[in-house]
Amino acid sequence: SAIVPCCYGNDTQRANGYAVELHRPKALNALFTPLILELNEALKTLDKDSTIGAMVLTGSHKAFAAGADIKEMATKEFADAYGNDFIESWSELPNTIKKPVISAVNGHALGGGCELAMMCDIMYCSEKANLGQPEIKLGIIPGAGGSQRLTRAIGKSKAMELILTGKNFSGREAYDWGLAARVFETPEQCVDGALDTAETIASYSKIAVKACKEVVNKSQDLGIREGVEFERRVFHGLFGSEDQKIGMKAFAEKKKAEWKHR
Ligand code: HXC
Repeated sequence: SAIVPCCYGNDTQRANGYAVELHRPKALNALFTPLILELNEALKTLDKDSTIGAMVLTGSHKAFAAGADIKEMATKEFADAYGNDFIESWSELPNTIKKPVISAVNGHALGGGCELAMMCDIMYCSEKANLGQPEIKLGIIPGAGGSQRLTRAIGKSKAMELILTGKNFSGREAYDWGLAARVFETPEQCVDGALDTAETIASYSKIAVKACKEVVNKSQDLGIREGVEFERRVFHGLFGSEDQKIGMKAFAEKKKAEWKHR
């Protein structure tokens, strides 16, 4: 199996429910199609599981993922790639998963590995993580959103430089440039930190969490005016949720909110 429950950190019980670890160690988690299909199934199962509030996606200490599988791609022809929508199955993570997914990036996250990490809602890195879009060195371009997500995250000039030179960057740099939300000294701390955050998110109302993810993601597609209007509509909608009543009543009574949708 290329996907195993994550069991880093001290509290494996806590981790088991909502962390997935890419596990194809012999190929540094190179992302061949069977692994992506299995990852999609794992994430969809967790997404539907009412006991799960947020997920962590990680790899090994050596590699988050060293890219799309170059050996799988090497002999591919245009008709096969286009005809069979090569890479489209990768879009399930950003397009269909509704619960927040945090990437905990240790080791190599190159090409498709970097793109997979960027598809997640929040990225955490350890200091020495090795990220990059080296596709130019293989005579291709990023194909799973790298040119779009990296550019939005760190700006055009820096993204253009990285994509045109294929130069790698560290987890520390990812953090300094705003691509990663946090950076940790060690891989263990990185995964633990991601699990802590997932746990925090999972402690809130699922309805509010889902709406937060939806409105933040809309900011990537809409102009500011439509984006703010969209946010306001969703905000209005939440006055129809029990959890808005529960949360505000608990505040007034100085109690902990006991969410209906948790
Ligand atoms: C297939 C890969 C692989 C990959 C590593 N391996 N990366 N196989 N596809 N992307 C395999 C190696 O062939 C090798 O198999 C084993 O994993 C260990 O790798 P080594 O190279 O021996 O390890 P090391 O010397 O530690 O070097 C690590 C590395 C290097 C720097 C990460 O493996 C590397 O440069 N990999 C390719 C990185 C890359 O270019 N990624 C972008 C791919 S293109 P054997 O059988 O020899 O032991 C891409 C396009 C995305 O992602 C567009 C659409 C999604």
